[in-house]
Amino acid sequence: MAIENTHSVILVTGGTGLVGYAMQHVIETEPLGSRFGRRPGETWVFIGTKDADLRDLEQARRIFDKHKPTHVVHLAALVGGLYRNMRHKLTFLRDNTLINDNVLRCAHETGVSKVVSCLSTCVFPDKVTYPLDESKIHLGPPHESNYGYAYAKRMIDIANRAYHDEHGCNFTSAIPTNVFGPNDNFDLDDSHVIPALIHKCLQAKRHDTPFVVLGSGKPLRQFIYSLDLAKLFIWQLREYDDVEPVILSVGEDEEVSIKQVADAIVAAIGFKGEYRFDPSRADGQFRKPASNQKLLSLLGNKFEFTPFEVALRETVQWFVEHYETDARVGRLNARKNGTNGIHAHGFKREGVEMDRPNKAL
Ligand SMILES: NC(=O)c1ccc[n+]([C@@H]2O[C@H](COP(=O)([O-])OP(=O)(O)OC[C@H]3O[C@@H](n4cnc5c(N)ncnc54)[C@H](OP(=O)(O)O)[C@@H]3O)[C@@H](O)[C@H]2O)c1
Repeated sequence: MAIENTHSVILVTGGTGLVGYAMQHVIETEPLGSRFGRRPGETWVFIGTKDADLRDLEQARRIFDKHKPTHVVHLAALVGGLYRNMRHKLTFLRDNTLINDNVLRCAHETGVSKVVSCLSTCVFPDKVTYPLDESKIHLGPPHESNYGYAYAKRMIDIANRAYHDEHGCNFTSAIPTNVFGPNDNFDLDDSHVIPALIHKCLQAKRHDTPFVVLGSGKPLRQFIYSLDLAKLFIWQLREYDDVEPVILSVGEDEEVSIKQVADAIVAAIGFKGEYRFDPSRADGQFRKPASNQKLLSLLGNKFEFTPFEVALRETVQWFVEHYETDARVGRLNARKNGTNGIHAHGFKREGVEMDRPNKAL
């Protein structure tokens, strides 16, 4: 069911993170009433951990009671890089299972008319034929390194189906590939490849040290810009009504190598020093392409993905501008303002309702 022009309250859990920040930006800056912009009668509420620890049912209930959402985009999750996932499988399993169960339960209890939850391509089986597509999620165990996170995420799909079968709920899910953009987590100990390389390269420039990229640089990955992903979430919330998940990704033909990523970062940062790869370090899987055929066929008309280099330049620019203040670069710096970087970019802080037409940022 599409969102009607009567009053709708869209609660975005995880609204203060990488993807939530992008959703705030898109809702604020796209033309009012447009496909991705705010529609008349909509109130968007973006929440983070300061508003509620969603692992706790009573806190989750209080936030649903406070905002009375009609729709939910559920992004909140314990998210981390490979090593954190490997070290804390139980924590990733339990925290994410609790968050997801509480959010879906509260959505059902309060009669929310639609929920779009966020999975990840990590949910797919380790041993699977490529390209990945929506029919392959449950065909075998996920990779050993992050099975805690992966199983917790997979169970959202099962829960959506069970809520639909038992209660007729309109709950569905999205499966993004690797996301990057402004307000990413740039903590060198615990970040994904793009924010980690951006941070590393900026440090190399500032300290006049070599920029060394671990591995051969040859593996290929599909990256989606957070602002493009935000639009696709808004599309899915408004225009897609089926329990079956949808992969939200650029096409398989838009894979980029880690070398292309590093080259683009070097160019965007203007790094002129020594730059090399260390092929003695593990590369990981060579490629794990996902198909976006279902998405493209559903979108109905051409969706313009931001060219990778443009998206990367914007992300680097954001990081450089926010590095000294509020970018998430490590535990000490990350919270030194008591924020996670949202406010300094002109966005309202977490838990703030935005129901007025907004100026461009
Ligand atoms: N990043 C990627 O490459 C990627 C790829 C595929 C899928 N995803 C999925 O995309 C979604 C958003 O990820 P992201 O990259 O935006 O992550 P992120 O930047 O780490 O943001 C996580 C968000 O979840 C909130 N959160 C974490 N624990 C919570 C809790 N116990 N209670 C309430 N809120 C909690 C955080 O709040 P605070 O800001 O207050 O900490 C933050 O708003 C997640 O579901 C993730 O699994 C991400």
